[in-house]
Amino acid sequence: MMLNSLLFSSLTAVSFFSSLSSGSLTLVNDWAKGPTAISMYVSVPKPTAGAPIIVLLHGCGESAAAYYAASRAYETAAQQKGYILIYPQTTFDSHCWDVATAKSLKHDGGGDSQSITNMVKYAVTKYNGDAKKVFVTGSSSGGMMTSVLCGAYPDVFAGGAPFSGVGYGCLSGSKGSSPFSDTSPCTKGGVTKTSKEWGDLVRSAFTGYTGQRPKMSVWHGTADGIVKPHTYDEAMKQWSDVLAQPFAKNVSNDPQARYTKMVYGDGTQLVGYVGAGVGHVVPQHPKQVLEFWGI
Ligand SMILES: *[C@@H]1O[C@H](CO)[C@@H](O)[C@H](O)[C@H]1NC(C)=O
Repeated sequence: MMLNSLLFSSLTAVSFFSSLSSGSLTLVNDWAKGPTAISMYVSVPKPTAGAPIIVLLHGCGESAAAYYAASRAYETAAQQKGYILIYPQTTFDSHCWDVATAKSLKHDGGGDSQSITNMVKYAVTKYNGDAKKVFVTGSSSGGMMTSVLCGAYPDVFAGGAPFSGVGYGCLSGSKGSSPFSDTSPCTKGGVTKTSKEWGDLVRSAFTGYTGQRPKMSVWHGTADGIVKPHTYDEAMKQWSDVLAQPFAKNVSNDPQARYTKMVYGDGTQLVGYVGAGVGHVVPQHPKQVLEFWGI
């Protein structure tokens, strides 16, 4: 709890200062708005027909502006390549994404995940985005929501990159999704399932779906005391089953010293990165993530 409180207050300070310089981040008012009352911000620095769309999700206690300020490399890449960046924002449950209720976990269930896919639909129409090149990343609570979106909306997302999050459905049944409202043992490393059980959970989010599933690049630190590294092992079991990609090999010092890249299958559908001694939150690695997504 102590660690959580410290994290929460430091993130709140970050949000306050970064909200003073929002750059080209713009609040959108005419999207479908809902089904939950979250906000949509975008950055479209180089409008380009058929541009890939990237959803970037802030962590607990944060804001769209805070995450935008922390993601300058994505802004630079968007300026060069024409990406459409969507920064959703929640102010509920200590500014954490709903990754626990059936509404959010189910495809078109009426939760935050559906609101975010409505933002994507708006961006496809309004900015001429490529509906086949929609990706999502985020840190901490944003990493957890990345997994929820990739699990429940495989028809919308082509790839995901959760940082310091948990797998799809790990907090299922918890009263809330913040360090203060969470009643699940998940983030403490207390939820263990078989690969098949984790995979079934994802498949139950959107029954009858037989199409392609998003490719995943999953990042976690071994010294994460807030979202325990055990959740990473469980998430990899999950995506390994969902994508039918068995563990193949480890690559040491990739992309840098003290990180290990875990390759599943041929490495094009599922990879994991474990940072030895890295805490909560693992720094973004936009170069590796964008290359993996193939955009
Ligand atoms: C691969 O690397 C991970 C992270 O360092 C480690 O936990 C795991 O035991 C390694 N697996 C093998 C087969 O070496």
